[in-house]
Parts: sequence; C-alpha cells; structure tokens
Amino acid sequence: MKRLRCFYLLFSSIFLCLQGPVFAQSTQIDHKWWKEAVVYQLYPRSFKDSNGDGIGDLKGIISKLDYLQSLGITAIWLNPVYASPNDDNGYDISDYRAIMKEFGTMADFDALLKGMHQRGIKLVMDLVVNHSSDEHEWFKQSRSARNSPYRDYYHWWPAEKGKPNYRYSLFDVNHDAWMYDSTTNAYYLHYFSRKQPDLNWENPKLRQEIYDIMRFWFDKGIDGFRLDAFTFVAKDITFPPFPKGYEKNFMPYYSMQPHLHDYLKEMYKEVFSKYDVLSVAEGAGNTPQDAHDLVDADRQELNMAYPFEWVDIPKPEGYSLVHLKAVISKWDSIFAQKGWLSVFLANHDNARMVSRFADERPQFRNLSSKMLNTLVLTLRGTPYCYYGDELGMVNIRFDNIADYNDVALRNEYAYLKKNGGDLKKWMEDMKFSNRDNGRTPFQWDNSAQAGFSTGVPWLKVNPNYPQLNAAQQEKDPNSNLNYFRKLIRLRKKEPTLVYGAYAQVDAQNPDVFAYTRTLNGRKILVLLNFRSKSVQVKHGEALKNAQLLISNYASPSRKNTLKPLEASVFLLK
Ligand code: GLC
Ligand code: CA
Repeated sequence: MKRLRCFYLLFSSIFLCLQGPVFAQSTQIDHKWWKEAVVYQLYPRSFKDSNGDGIGDLKGIISKLDYLQSLGITAIWLNPVYASPNDDNGYDISDYRAIMKEFGTMADFDALLKGMHQRGIKLVMDLVVNHSSDEHEWFKQSRSARNSPYRDYYHWWPAEKGKPNYRYSLFDVNHDAWMYDSTTNAYYLHYFSRKQPDLNWENPKLRQEIYDIMRFWFDKGIDGFRLDAFTFVAKDITFPPFPKGYEKNFMPYYSMQPHLHDYLKEMYKEVFSKYDVLSVAEGAGNTPQDAHDLVDADRQELNMAYPFEWVDIPKPEGYSLVHLKAVISKWDSIFAQKGWLSVFLANHDNARMVSRFADERPQFRNLSSKMLNTLVLTLRGTPYCYYGDELGMVNIRFDNIADYNDVALRNEYAYLKKNGGDLKKWMEDMKFSNRDNGRTPFQWDNSAQAGFSTGVPWLKVNPNYPQLNAAQQEKDPNSNLNYFRKLIRLRKKEPTLVYGAYAQVDAQNPDVFAYTRTLNGRKILVLLNFRSKSVQVKHGEALKNAQLLISNYASPSRKNTLKPLEASVFLLK
C-alpha cells in the first residue's frame, strides 16, 4: 500500500513539474568557465608510472594526455605534486616551489601544463597551507631556536608554561595535536600528523610567503587552486581550553574561526583578483551561511563551495536514499540564487563511489557506475569526476593491515590497538570506507599490474583488472568509459544541465532519485533507480513525446518500470 502511494506521488509530481510555464522568462546566465567546467580529479601517484619504480609520475600523465582529452573533461585537479617526504602522500610539503622527486622535474611539470593547455584542459593545483612538512626549511629554522626569524611561522607552546590545553589530532597515534620538541623545550601544534606542523596564519609574514607561492604558480599559467583543509587555518592562538569530549565533534572548534574571512579577503586582493581562476576550499564551513560567506561573488573571497554533507552519508550498514536526496537538494537550494557548488561523489579521501553509493557486485557495477556518473553530470554545480570512476573502479577491500599505506589509517590502527578498540570490526569497516580503496592504481589494460607500472606498485592493483580496464572498455561502445564520454558531450551542449533550475520529483520515493532541470522553457527530466532490481513507477503521459537524451539501457522504460539501476535522461516536450 505504502509503495503504491509512492508511485502515485511520482506520477502526479511529474505532471505538476510539467505544467510550469512554457514561455518562462528568459534567465540571464552569468557565464564562467569554471561553472561550465567538467573537472577530473587526478591522483598522480596512481595514474601512470613511466619509469617502473611503482609510483605514478608526471611523465606518466603526459603519456596519457590524449586519453584525458578523449574523455571531454575540461579541467584537472591534480593532487599535490610538490617536493614532499610523503608522510601523507604529498600533503606534507617540504618545498612549495619544487616538484616531488618521484614525480619528476619542473621541466616535466611545464611540459604537462603546456600539453594540457594545448588540449583545452585547465590545471587546478592543490594548495596545502594549513600545514607544511616538518622537513620544510621554514620548520627546520623554526624548531632550531626560540629566537629564529621563522619561529612564528608555526604554533609553539613553551613547556615551562606547562602542558598546553588539549587539541585533537586527526592523524596522530595518540590523537594528540601537541608534539613535544626537546630542541627548544616546547610543543608544536599539528592537527594532522606529527610530520605536518600547522602554519601560523596569524603571522602576516607567513601569509605574504603563501601569496608569493600562489603567484609563482599562477604566473606559470595554472588555472586555479583547491585549498586543502583551509577552513582550519585561523586559530585562537591563546589556545583556550575546549569542552571535554569536543573531539567527537571538533568542526565547530577547528573550522571557520575568527579572521578566516580576513585572510581570504586579503588573499583575494593579493592574488585571486589578478587572475581568471577557479578557487575552491575543501569543506564549506559549518552552516549554509558559512558556505555563502566563503563563495558569494560580491564578498570577493573564493568562487566555489565544496561541501561534504552528502558524501559522508553512506555507511557500511547502508544509507537512506531519501536522506541523500534531501541533502543534495538542500545544497542545491542554498546556491539557487547566489554562489556556486561543486558536485562529487568521490575523491582521494573516500572509498570508491560505486562501492559506497550503489552496487559493486560484478553483475551490477557497470550499471551502478553509469547511474552515479549520470547523477554527478546532470546536477547543477561543477562536476568533479575522480580518476577511475569513468571505468567504474571499485573498492579493493584489503584484509591485511600491511597492505594499507594511508597514514591516518595506520596511526588509528595503532591507537585502537593500544586502547583496546574492536580491531576486527574496524578492519571490516575500513574495507568499505578507507581512502586507500580509492587510491589503487588506474587500470589501463589486462597486462601485468594493469599496465600501470612495469615495477611493483606502491599500492596493490585491484585484482579485478583483467575484467575491468580502460583498453577493454575502449573497444566496447556500451562500456562505462564510452557512456561517461557521452554524458560529458551531453552536458557540454546542454546549458540547461549546467545552469538550469533544479527541482526534485517525488522526494519521498525510497528507491528512485528523480529531478528536473529547467532553463528558459527547456525542461530535462532525470530518472535514477538506485536499486539493483526493477521498481515500478508511473511516468504518466510525461514521457510519451519526450526525447531520450541518454540512458544506461538500450531501450529504457517509457512505461511503468525502471530497470535495475536504470539512469535515463529525457527532454520533455
Ligand atoms: C585534506 C586532504 C587529505 C589530507 C589532509 C591533510 O583533508 O584532502 O588527503 O590527508 O587534508 O593535508
Ligand atoms: Ca614513476
């Protein structure tokens, strides 16, 4: 009975949607390249190894530029490639103006940038400035003496004042963000690992150093920055006590602290205002208001929000589609009039989207991949597609702790072991959620190591590569890869998919995500079945004359059924 009512609701609400004015007022579009971009997030360590050391590198990426162009993507967000001792795979930078040795040279970087631009692909780099590496020259100087001119580039607490108030560390083996250093009898602050000391943004000299670094890369011609952990940079440097147990919900204490907006405004004035670039911070603050304050054009700070709320929803035990839909719809509505959103279901800090949001079993993973990519590429906002998701790569599910590389995971394992945690359950959960699942080498072909490397890869290749690889999908017109290309072509020729208003249809349907996108009287309906079984729906008359734009089935339903994991997109007439 309950089910029947849902079908009826879907049926009737599609009708209601259809009844909107045909001659709607023409909407003025504020065109921006970064709104129309299709971003591909490329994890360089795992993309293509050119010299057999098992580590992806810049020459490897260069050798695959034609492949990247063939996808139709128009920008790449490249995870950090700067000099780094790799405690956290490049998120611990020891020289912001040099390239990581394993990845190549500055000449390789210049060639990569040139090759991308020749192919119409822009480059967005990662800017990791909440912290540096402890091997950065600034930190070496800073730790050497209390009167070093670099002392105030970091946060130090003199030990004679006693132990500083507790600060939680996301990556530390003891969860303690203060590390004692005997050289000067003081503690330094590290929100992430001990090898990632936090930079002191309250120091104007440090801020100018960072702006210089940013200009260095922009003057080379890069097209944007993604600001890593940036909402954490501002801190109350008196380090007052936080309530006991705050670490269970630390964001209100770490994110969006006083002066953050002052720093962003200064950064805009000093750097961003001088270039036509994409600027996105990781995270969107603690409230919708924060998100607006970070990105509304008239505030002159950043230009795109990257909220985590919906990406955090899937859990090993499952999730509610109604909830996911509500959260995605909420974020769309927050930016309906002002500001701009990033849309993504995966990145290097998450496991694979097919494994988390849909059905990774071999018989369902292709449909799942196409269905989820349809979602990402038909929502309002700039889509970010994570490398390998064009193939439908899935979690590797390591059994053995030694197979993992992730510094956060290894330290948490040690912490749980020491504190008597339930390691068995935790290891099982990690197979679903740990970020190394999303970092395994790209699966190029069915040769050894999936064609990623002639050596031993730094992280194991998913053993499913003989069945799941780019070479095999190139040959198959119905592959995930070719569907992904088709979706991008569709988005590029339909401004309605970029700028059109979004309206959810039948919000309470537990199985189907359906919505319309409308621009200047042109209305597109997207139907996504999230279940690995057929579900009954009523499209009513709506689809009778509708034009099919794309589907993951050869003959999608025009009647009362959505096939398992069906994704179909119609232009309504
Ligand atoms: C961000 C990055 C993550 C990194 C952390 C510390 O969350 O996305 O990969 O480990 O910051 O830099
Ligand atoms: Ca290499």
